[in-house]
Amino acid sequence: MKRRGTITGWGKCVPPVKLTNADLEQLVDTSDEWITERTGIQERGISHVEVTDLAEVAALRALAAAGLAVDDIDLIVVATVTPEISCPSQACTLQERLGAWNAGAFDLNAACSGFVYGSSTASSMIEAGVADRVLLVGAEKLHFVMDYWDRATSILFGDGAGAVVMEASTAGDGVLAHDLGADGGQGKTMVFPTLGTRGEILRERDPWTDRLHFEGPNVFKIAVRGMEGSVRRALERAEISPEEVNLVVPHQANARIIDAATRRLGVPPENVMVNIANHGNSAAASIPMALSDALEQGRIAEGDIVVQTAFGGGVTWGSTVMRWGERTTPVGKADIELPPTDLTVFDILAENRQFFAPYHADG
Ligand code: UT7
Repeated sequence: MKRRGTITGWGKCVPPVKLTNADLEQLVDTSDEWITERTGIQERGISHVEVTDLAEVAALRALAAAGLAVDDIDLIVVATVTPEISCPSQACTLQERLGAWNAGAFDLNAACSGFVYGSSTASSMIEAGVADRVLLVGAEKLHFVMDYWDRATSILFGDGAGAVVMEASTAGDGVLAHDLGADGGQGKTMVFPTLGTRGEILRERDPWTDRLHFEGPNVFKIAVRGMEGSVRRALERAEISPEEVNLVVPHQANARIIDAATRRLGVPPENVMVNIANHGNSAAASIPMALSDALEQGRIAEGDIVVQTAFGGGVTWGSTVMRWGERTTPVGKADIELPPTDLTVFDILAENRQFFAPYHADG
């Protein structure tokens, strides 16, 4: 049978410090009721460590679940929109941390669609025989680019990491079909200009520019239509109907977006993985974290049709359809945790509040 990329290991890393809706009530003019009703989010992780630390924990957990050693990996792909620095890439920094010396490594930026783009890329490279065992990571420290005086954005996003190991299989399982799309013309609906080279070399970071610019309701519409259309195209290519889908693992941006998109597809809520309440929107990390939770909860069985779908900045969208392989319980467990911290969420966000305060003082 055709050689395909199939998931054989998974893991996630959730920061221990949480920003709850009650905390947000102290920072911005909002309420637990509004946030819960409009987004489904109750708390989000705010990382006290760097992206590499989050990625390392998720990666080692995924490797242990796959029963593999770091030396077995021949490619590392990190999907992120918040790399620590641009060069070396986040993937190379992670490679060094892991000591995965047999692996090529590169980053992939498709914002919140990054993990789906990564799944498509990794499985295609496996199909083509370029790679046999890929470590695919989604890792984000989004709080760095948020403005915690802005109620429109601060309530949505969280930090975290998730990872999978994808291996070659000829048993009929793996990624069956993909759909990737983008519309750069709509890119202005979600922009954070912080981490790039645009502008003068002497330019200082300033709170007027270096924050997420965001048209929430417009993004909402693009997201619902984008995910529905993308899943339909991917399913058509796989010659699978929406009724045959056992689990949709969507990007966790807003519970109402997930509900609207999957309702249009005719996929019942019990076949949709939603874990946004505890993590918020963690961009490229959200799907692998949701996938890990789905497996931990026993929601995926051998042979299941599992669909990943996402939309995000760019704007971008994408979906993959896969038939799950035999691995549904981890082979092993990694003995790794993030370093503990005594910091409160307000301690971690203190510099952010200080940086953005002048913007809000001047209206
Ligand atoms: O991964 C991709 C990233 N992007 C997204 O996921 C964003 C997609 N968009 C959304 O999730 C939603 O559009 C939001 C959650 C951002 C906003 O929800 P909405 O239902 O579209 O609300 P809205 O922006 O239309 O605002 C409704 C009302 C407004 O008040 P008025 O004009 O009706 O009096 C807002 O000022 O709610 C107000 N509002 C808030 N109230 C309390 C907006 N944000 C808040 C808030 N707390 N945090």
